[in-house]
Amino acid sequence: MLFFFDNTICSVLPVDKHWINWVLFFYFYFHRGLKYVLSEAFYMKVKVLNNIAKTGLDILEKEGFFLQENDGLDGCSGIVLRSHNIAEEKLPKSIFAIARAGAGTNNIDVEDCSQNGVVVFNTPGANANAVKEMVLCSLILGKRDLVSGNRSIDAIDIDNMDDEAVIKEIEAMKKLYVGSEIKNKNLTVVGLGAIGSMVAEHAIQLGMNVTGYDPGLTVETALRLPSSIKMANSLEGSLRDAEYISLHIPLVPDTKEIINSKLITKLNNSVLINFSRGGIVCEESLLDGLDQKFLYKYVTDFPTKKLINRVRTKKDVVIFPHLGASTTESEINCAEMACSQLADFLNKGKIVNSVNFPNISSEKVSKHRIYFSNINEPGIISKVADVLAQENVNIVEFVNKSRNNLASNIIDSDDEIAPHILDRLMKIKGVTNARLCY
Ligand SMILES: NC(=O)c1ccc[n+]([C@@H]2O[C@H](COP(=O)([O-])OP(=O)(O)OC[C@H]3O[C@@H](n4cnc5c(N)ncnc54)[C@H](O)[C@@H]3O)[C@@H](O)[C@H]2O)c1
Repeated sequence: MLFFFDNTICSVLPVDKHWINWVLFFYFYFHRGLKYVLSEAFYMKVKVLNNIAKTGLDILEKEGFFLQENDGLDGCSGIVLRSHNIAEEKLPKSIFAIARAGAGTNNIDVEDCSQNGVVVFNTPGANANAVKEMVLCSLILGKRDLVSGNRSIDAIDIDNMDDEAVIKEIEAMKKLYVGSEIKNKNLTVVGLGAIGSMVAEHAIQLGMNVTGYDPGLTVETALRLPSSIKMANSLEGSLRDAEYISLHIPLVPDTKEIINSKLITKLNNSVLINFSRGGIVCEESLLDGLDQKFLYKYVTDFPTKKLINRVRTKKDVVIFPHLGASTTESEINCAEMACSQLADFLNKGKIVNSVNFPNISSEKVSKHRIYFSNINEPGIISKVADVLAQENVNIVEFVNKSRNNLASNIIDSDDEIAPHILDRLMKIKGVTNARLCY
């Protein structure tokens, strides 16, 4: 940077290069240092764990947060992370929220967070396009052996061949890799959420006949689905006639090894694509299914020792090292979504895409706002209202949302909320967190 100013700017502008360097020195060292000192008093601090895309962090800075990249968690109000594991860490009381730039949250102790009123966010759908593109690629790889075809090029002995001989060898090779197209073939998509619905839509555009199965389809997703998708009533029914199957469901106890020998033995040389999680498919049944030609090929993002071994001996498994969401665009989308959700919560009490607390939001109608969370039990809200009444705080608007055993609340008031009032709210049994929003 200094080199650039010394040698470029100073050569075209009539300024002394030492002067420019002093300005830069003050900006980068003094201004940023000052912000660090002021952060203790005026800025809410967000701890950044992992490499989070700059466009995401810019959102937090623009919203007035100080990014704590080096020191620990003490004094921080929020955390933004990717895969850094904090499940075993004791979080300081100052933490109100954790934003995970990505889908899974098993690196966070969500149960403990829920008990302590810490809102955990994730970014559903932010990486859906990246995964969808990889699945479309896998559909084509399903019955065209492009992987082996590509590898066979390495074996051509170019050092001892002229161009004509190379072309002759390639022409001979071609015959080994004749595949078949996906157009007019039957695809079953299991799980029609953010990723599955996009896969279904684009597979239809590529000319496939798509059947979908999703017992928990939301109205929002149902409306997004193309009208030509055939919906099945059961998983087994959805797989009848499936030439290609793509799985887009979460791994939870109910879906563990949901693709098992009972289903696999009803297939007929089908291609199975799994970009969800390895545990959804029973590995033993899968390998048997490949041996007995119930399955033609397995394309997955989740390597295991047995699968890697199979790739080394047979051509019916294609594995990627968990690349589904690995695109620059997806990392940026996840970071921007995680950071803006965190900023909105810390500044306004708004919750969207939390894995533990209900969605809540409301336009601020008066000067002061309290956010508090509580265990969803009768009597707690009235105790909060009593404390506010005793403190002469008039409630202008009150929004309460609950989900399972947790509730989120926003209270707007024109009256000043002194810190001791928040302390009193925190002392009510069942209130798990209470703070002012700005
Ligand atoms: N390979 C990767 O890098 C990568 C990246 C992102 C997500 N994923 C995986 O993809 C999965 C799907 O992601 P998403 O963003 O589409 O999730 P999503 O929550 O938007 O959709 C999941 C859908 O599955 C449905 N579902 C749940 N159980 C089902 C069952 N038994 N049968 C049929 N449908 C069922 C739900 O109703 C929901 O509509 C994630 O859970 C994650 O494991 C992988």
